[in-house]
Amino acid sequence: MKIDQVLLTEVAEKFSTPLYIYSAEKILSNYHAYDKGFGDYPHLICYAVKANSNLSILKLLAKAGSGFDIVSKGELKRVLATGGDPKKIVYSGVGKKESDLEFALKAGIGCFNIESVAEVYMLNRVATKLGVKAPVSLRINPNVDAKTHPYISTGLKENKFGISMDDALPMYREMARMPALDIHGIDFHIGSQLTEMSPYAEALDLTLALIDELSELGIHLKHLDMGGGLGIRYEDETLIDPAKWIAQAIEKIGDRDLKIFIEPGRSIVGDAGVLVTQVILTKENEGKNFAIVDAAMNDLIRPALYGAWMNIINLDEDSESEVKNYDIVGPICETGDFLGKDRELALTSGDYLAITHAGAYGFTMSSNYNSRGRAAEVLLEDGTARLIRARETEESLYAEETAYL
Ligand code: LLP
Repeated sequence: MKIDQVLLTEVAEKFSTPLYIYSAEKILSNYHAYDKGFGDYPHLICYAVKANSNLSILKLLAKAGSGFDIVSKGELKRVLATGGDPKKIVYSGVGKKESDLEFALKAGIGCFNIESVAEVYMLNRVATKLGVKAPVSLRINPNVDAKTHPYISTGLKENKFGISMDDALPMYREMARMPALDIHGIDFHIGSQLTEMSPYAEALDLTLALIDELSELGIHLKHLDMGGGLGIRYEDETLIDPAKWIAQAIEKIGDRDLKIFIEPGRSIVGDAGVLVTQVILTKENEGKNFAIVDAAMNDLIRPALYGAWMNIINLDEDSESEVKNYDIVGPICETGDFLGKDRELALTSGDYLAITHAGAYGFTMSSNYNSRGRAAEVLLEDGTARLIRARETEESLYAEETAYL
């Protein structure tokens, strides 16, 4: 995101803080980088809704032709509310309930990414009851090390995701005999914030070998979904080039007739958003400097949860204060409530700071802890700043409780 500091300060002034600000242009250019990478090769980009599920952002992507990777009925309803095409939706997740499957079947989604043997039977049962055929893909767990943070690594056998390579083949044979299932594809997602291509190469090789075995048994898949996971540069990470990543897959697939699906989340919206916060006050405790800001771990939990390093800049260029080493912390009563530690910054109360690269897993992971309303969200589009989510009021936080007083 091109940081136009004056603009961000003006927008923060207008809509107050903490405030998420996103760039429509950057979101679309990230999306198009994937789309262009495929050229004429048949593909479907399913943006992972969990990264940022604001309706205006979903609508922007739907209009650009994007499909969606969802993991809940809530995300499905969001996509449908923005006019997203149900046929371009894939539904992942280890714990779908019968009612979720039923709702998604009725909506006519494109594919169920099944994560367990039990789910196969559950889906067959629900589809039979409704008298429809469910489009399915098995999420295999290729047992590869994605070399990322353990909490966001998903393709190892000790992780809860997917079906083991050993179980996949018999499961496909079984599914081929189930009347209410229509086998469409195979999928994997090995983790998030990946910075190396080799784990993907490994997962692809294993998956393609399985696809060939299935072919010999007369089970022909239509698509291969290689998940999401491409990292962004929070600090100095090396990045995977989307075009190279796609080219590697196309080359490995060769003349097998397979459409490629991908499920990028972070790499579409991550660097397209910032969280702007205002310094409430500064304080010093025995030589340690703190800047207490009005955003907190409830607004952005990545630093507290994963120890994630996120860049923090002062938008007030004229700040004449002296540079000091600060911990940037929020007002929440937890020591874990920090946005950044040991930052060399010149700042003073009233300054606006921006936590950059906060467009993914920022707002969507926010909470109401300490009875704090969630932040407002603004989209910059064609030079204008448009509110796309109003700040939550304190009253709305207890609205579901007042009837029980
Ligand atoms: N597909 C599936 C099945 C997923 O579980 C995920 C992310 C994605 C696609 C998108 O992955 P991406 O392209 O965004 O890496 N909250 C964590 C990230 C959790 C990712 C969960 N799954 C964070 O803030 O780092």
